[in-house]
Amino acid sequence: MAGITRRDALKVGGLSVAGMAAAFLGACGSQAGSNAATEAATSQAANATSASAAAHELTIDQNSKLLARSEFIGLDEEVQLADGTKKPAINFDNGATTPSLVSALEAIQTHLPMYGSIGRGKGQKSGWSTEQFNNVRPVVLDFFGAPADTYTCAFSGTATDGLNKISGALCEPDSVVLTTRSEHHANDLTWRAHAGEVRYVEVDELGRLRMEEFEQQLADRQVNIVSVQAASNVTGYVHDVHEIARLAHEAGAIMVVDGAQIASHRAFSLKGETEDQDIDFFVCSAHKMYAPFGGGCIIGKTSLMNEHVPAYRGGGMVDVVTDYDVTWLESPDLWEAGSPNYLGAITLGKSCEALKQVGFGAIEAHEQTLLRRALDGLSQISGVTLYADSNSIEDRVGVLTFNVDAVPAADVAERLANEWAIAVRQGEFCAHPLCHRLMGYTDEQILAERDKPDFSAPAMVRVSMGMYNTEQDVDTLIEAVGKIAQG
Ligand code: ALA
Repeated sequence: MAGITRRDALKVGGLSVAGMAAAFLGACGSQAGSNAATEAATSQAANATSASAAAHELTIDQNSKLLARSEFIGLDEEVQLADGTKKPAINFDNGATTPSLVSALEAIQTHLPMYGSIGRGKGQKSGWSTEQFNNVRPVVLDFFGAPADTYTCAFSGTATDGLNKISGALCEPDSVVLTTRSEHHANDLTWRAHAGEVRYVEVDELGRLRMEEFEQQLADRQVNIVSVQAASNVTGYVHDVHEIARLAHEAGAIMVVDGAQIASHRAFSLKGETEDQDIDFFVCSAHKMYAPFGGGCIIGKTSLMNEHVPAYRGGGMVDVVTDYDVTWLESPDLWEAGSPNYLGAITLGKSCEALKQVGFGAIEAHEQTLLRRALDGLSQISGVTLYADSNSIEDRVGVLTFNVDAVPAADVAERLANEWAIAVRQGEFCAHPLCHRLMGYTDEQILAERDKPDFSAPAMVRVSMGMYNTEQDVDTLIEAVGKIAQG
């Protein structure tokens, strides 16, 4: 199949689920009465499904070397403006979530007819689904440069879910955790909830991590866990987590990386250049990787994953439970209590395959072009304040934040949506401490104002880019912000 348009995908989607189901039922039904024959049917169905799942050839746009826009669902979908007219939406809210790949939707359609319980039953569908589910693990490990002889991939929900599981598993009541003031709340509040003490590396006036503080903080105090984002959802800075891992390991700490904002933007490998730079635990969210079906993963050193029992518990993680005793299974089962999100895992795998096929060289170059263009354009507009470093952007993924003088961020976002069909995010992006710092608010100021009836939380506007965004999208944004700034 040489590419598929969004509308075709949706149309095919509506029909093909029924069609596929009929095909599978036909194949399985005709074999009823014989185990051997049923197995043959299952294998036939499985082959058919695998073949069908593999049939979608990703279309690369030869000009950009990126996935063609038709590979994403909904990019040309029109939304209604305030004046009642309609326009195709421009999505600059990819830091929050990304549209689905056509290939992810197709994978759902091809897998659903054979869907059964994962790791639980002897039914053919159960066996087949379990095999498919487990087959995604090496794909994800390979994508994130995590050799299977050292690392295990456990499927989770979002990165928030993964970090809650990791912090619950690793922390003792007296654990000391070192993180940073750049983190998204998932990599801060989780540790506040489970550790004895949480310490923070500061950011500088442009929001970059003060790298020199890691060494000092690790020398000051015995730290048990260091947890740092690979890229910021506010400034877009990419952090040298391998160097931080080296320092953490030298100090005897475990290194955790929040990969939510790097996964679809830059190549990331859990293996460092040297063994002491290897990451111990990593999380990501599939919904920020063009597979918004609730999937995500925790990748960890297998030895550590077997050593620590997550606080998130239930069936599937145990060998034997007696009245007052439990024996645990090894990872990944130990980290996957409850029925897993099968379709989340399958579509995460599809996304990894698609991103790998494109390659991060093209993605990074495209994002740098868009980011440069957006920063240059916005910086020309009188009344616009840009946050973070607009000059040196090599260490930034395609994320920028700004404000327009005298126009609240929520109003900017609303006008962008209502008048130009541009979707951005406004607020503090679940990263309040970092946003306060970038806007120049101290904790004292916030605490003094917080409980007043007329308190309105500080806010900025965020533009976060995806692979499919175009220079035309950026130009429309600049024009729109220019008009908003003119009043
Ligand atoms: N999902 C959050 C965001 O929008 C973290 O950046």
